[in-house]
Amino acid sequence: MNVGVAHSEVNPNTRVMNSRGMWLTYALGVGLLHIVLLSIPFFSVPVAWTLTNVIHNLGMYVFLHAVKGTPFETPDQGKARLLTHWEQLDYGVQFTSSRKFFTISPIILFIAASPGDETRTVLMTSLPGRQGIIYRVSMLILNKAAGVFSKPSRREIFEFLRSFNFRPGNVFLHKLVLGIETSCDDTAAAVVDETGNVLGEAIHSQTEVHLKTGGIVPPVAQQLHRENIQRIVQEALSTSKVSPSELSAIATTVKPGLALSLGVGLSFSLQLVDQLKKPFIPIHHMEAHALTIRLLNKVEFPFLVLLISGGHCLLALVRGVSDFLLLGKSLDIAPGDMLDKVARRLSLIKHPECSTMSGGKAIEHLAKQGNKLHFDFKPPMQRAKNCDFSFTGLQHVIDKIITQKEKEEGIQKGQILSSAAHIAAAVQHTTACHIAKRTHRAILFCKQRDLLSQSNAVLVVSGGVASNLYIRKALEIVTNATQCTLLCPPPKLCTDNGIMIAWNGIERLRAGLGILHNTEGIRYEPKCPLGVDISKEVGEAAIKVPRLKMKI
Ligand SMILES: *[C@@H]1O[C@H](CO)[C@@H](O)[C@H](O)[C@H]1NC(C)=O
Repeated sequence: MNVGVAHSEVNPNTRVMNSRGMWLTYALGVGLLHIVLLSIPFFSVPVAWTLTNVIHNLGMYVFLHAVKGTPFETPDQGKARLLTHWEQLDYGVQFTSSRKFFTISPIILFIAASPGDETRTVLMTSLPGRQGIIYRVSMLILNKAAGVFSKPSRREIFEFLRSFNFRPGNVFLHKLVLGIETSCDDTAAAVVDETGNVLGEAIHSQTEVHLKTGGIVPPVAQQLHRENIQRIVQEALSTSKVSPSELSAIATTVKPGLALSLGVGLSFSLQLVDQLKKPFIPIHHMEAHALTIRLLNKVEFPFLVLLISGGHCLLALVRGVSDFLLLGKSLDIAPGDMLDKVARRLSLIKHPECSTMSGGKAIEHLAKQGNKLHFDFKPPMQRAKNCDFSFTGLQHVIDKIITQKEKEEGIQKGQILSSAAHIAAAVQHTTACHIAKRTHRAILFCKQRDLLSQSNAVLVVSGGVASNLYIRKALEIVTNATQCTLLCPPPKLCTDNGIMIAWNGIERLRAGLGILHNTEGIRYEPKCPLGVDISKEVGEAAIKVPRLKMKI
């Protein structure tokens, strides 16, 4: 008598796929496999999809078409012993829902793994890539549930590997750029990687030397660059622990700036490029300033940038890595230069509270103690409805007032006026209003021409003067009134530095723009405008700027 016969008729394989929740469990299983693959460092999304697909198909082949019988049941299996699972499914009946499910699931996975993001987005709207729901939810679960599986950002991974003195640069074709800056009075260098990680940096400032001579003397600056450049580049490289052979390229400021200073940086870089056989990326100093924000914040093009420093003053629309529209610039001197001149005229260096401060900082500090309404300086260029700036007129007016006050108080030139704080407050306020008004017009112009987003445009303010909190507040009033976001890089990155040059090199490498393998005929350019100048068009639009209450 064969006891097993009655049981062997009920083959568990035939109905296992019809159990409650089986499809969901199956999908979750495949999902889990994909998540685990995604969480492995250096597996990109397409790689993870492909592996999920391959592993799933192998599993399907083994369990559905290779293995025969009922492996988890010991009793007699009857004729099932000779059949694969696919044949046993639903007692061999065709076109059942289980069979359809098994037929469709590899097709769906194949589409998910097929190359081309467009296909995936169109066909798999529920399973997008790294930005998608699956990725976010799975990362949340993994991060919460098991720290072991958490996927740190690429930057952290590289830092982690670096801590073992491991160089991912070579292994994963990670981009590393050495940036060199000598356009004015700072000799600076830095090594930056593709993710915006600053691996090494060094800077030598000539400010002190030039303070003594009352301004930059180009031959002196040139000599100081020559004396320091080798050491500064070496320092940046050695702190980065990157060997020169690992660099992807060398990026150097070649325009605009002081001719003698630019020359030192360029000839040093060309020697290095020749010696190391690396590509060379010539950098536009102002473009580098404008793009610095992208090293820290995820700012998409287009955005508006206001560069205000001791040497620069301009408003531009940034549309791409090397696509700029110049909306306006200073017709004479830069605001930082003007503030420095006023500070010098007021002899603030002799003021007990300001003796160690730069001119601009001294004005900002003293202004807090003064009444900005004590003097009424008219903001410059009120009738010109464009985005240009002017500061010499204001500087002359202040000069006259100071001379007049010195007479009234009966003091010599070089002594501190009792009204110095009021003058500082008034000049800072007038400067802030002038800058704010021009920026406001630029925002309105760009929105009117649909060059900027109507509701979430970004204004980036950079340059040394950007760290003046009063001026920044004035700009915040403008961005608040125009539904814009105001962003400022930290002070260290607002002034001249090597990091921004290296970062611009990275941006250009990624975009494949301006990478030279042959440096023949490359020259520095002391004068070089930023982008396409449309300031005339801006002036012709004659946009009237609504009055804003500058309650700062
Ligand atoms: C701008 O708006 C923000 C948020 O509404 C507010 O906190 C801030 O004080 C405003 N700034 C100025 C200068 O009005």
